[in-house]
Amino acid sequence: MRSILAIARQRIQLPQGAWRSAAASLVRGDLWDGPQIAEFEAAFAEFIGSADAVTVPSGRGGFKLLFDGFGLKPGAEIICSAFGYPIVPFLVKSLGYNLKFVDCETTTLGMDPEKLEAAISDNTAAVIATHLYGVPCQIDEIAKITKAHGSALIEDCAHCYGAAVNGQKVGTFGDAGCFSFETSKVINTMGGGMVTVSSEAMGERIRETARQGTPNGMKWLFKRLSKTTFESLVTNPVLFNLGVYQALRLIPRGEEDRFASGYHGDEVSMSGKMGRYTNYQARLGLRGMKTVGDVVANRRANAERLIDQLDEKLRFQKPAGSHVDSNYMLVTAMTEELHALAARLLRAGVDTKHLYMRDCSGMFEGAGDFPHALAAEKEVLHIPAHPHLSLDDIDVLAGKIQGAL
Ligand SMILES: Cc1ncc(COP(=O)(O)O)c(C=O)c1O
Repeated sequence: MRSILAIARQRIQLPQGAWRSAAASLVRGDLWDGPQIAEFEAAFAEFIGSADAVTVPSGRGGFKLLFDGFGLKPGAEIICSAFGYPIVPFLVKSLGYNLKFVDCETTTLGMDPEKLEAAISDNTAAVIATHLYGVPCQIDEIAKITKAHGSALIEDCAHCYGAAVNGQKVGTFGDAGCFSFETSKVINTMGGGMVTVSSEAMGERIRETARQGTPNGMKWLFKRLSKTTFESLVTNPVLFNLGVYQALRLIPRGEEDRFASGYHGDEVSMSGKMGRYTNYQARLGLRGMKTVGDVVANRRANAERLIDQLDEKLRFQKPAGSHVDSNYMLVTAMTEELHALAARLLRAGVDTKHLYMRDCSGMFEGAGDFPHALAAEKEVLHIPAHPHLSLDDIDVLAGKIQGAL
């Protein structure tokens, strides 16, 4: 990135050979079913260190399969962090469970273990602990609490592939972990996900149900390829600078929140998110697993360099200690002047992202007040530190941010 170039909030890449591989799979006849699904599941379970891993049609679809797999009956109490991705509590509520929130911490932005201790009871059927933006929550503490109360623990690992606490990968601390392979995630298979489970019997039960999902069909596949191609084009540095950046600068004041999270709207919906994970996507996932190590190493080095340079001027989301390995899917700052800073950064050529996670309690009447979640929704600003940027680029970026501060 030379100083004159603008930088997009995120860089989304079409998985290598995605169109070619789709055509080849179609010709070979292994697009929907084939051996790569089992191969991907086995490689994933081995990497994460779980007893089993099962491909699922999406992260949210994975949660639904897990609730069914655990035999949770409507009315069962499920605790979520108030600060999170709205579809998760929305799904809990719409399936008839008794949804309860716990506030988040101000540093990791994950569920506060002390607040969980106060809220949990022996009636709590399950706790969903989310690791946000690549930084694990205090999952070791949370696991002790759920164990003491006999509640199931499900980790939302949508952002946290490969992150670890005390050398133990997230997705193995409780009964299950749920990963997403949406386009912006660390492993991108143009949708889909994986659940990791602590028992082989549970894995088999979920696999049996997941395999009964209806294949999504060619129209769905074409839509997924087209959407991902669009995202990779608009976040491509050349095209971003040739048009997208200028378009973002034309958004009228007060309208910025419409495009705050992505360049198109976020959907709180299950539409297109069920069905069956495809063998074609599993092939992309296996390829992704082979290259993701270097990508994550660059991501981490860039994030640490940026945070290091700006630490005295901006508050950042941080892991709970040196025993935590983050993948920094996103670099997350917190500022009380979010809109003004985002506007100044955009003028300086730095596109940012906000309103990805929400204070979900606001979606449900009478859910209670969660001041840290509310503050996080208003203050969290994601700063780009893409893995393909060099450390010199990061220094230029840090200079631009210092100027905007
Ligand atoms: C924290 C979190 N959990 C769950 C999900 C749902 O994943 P999916 O979009 O694959 O259903 C997302 C998606 O962005 C997320 O950010």
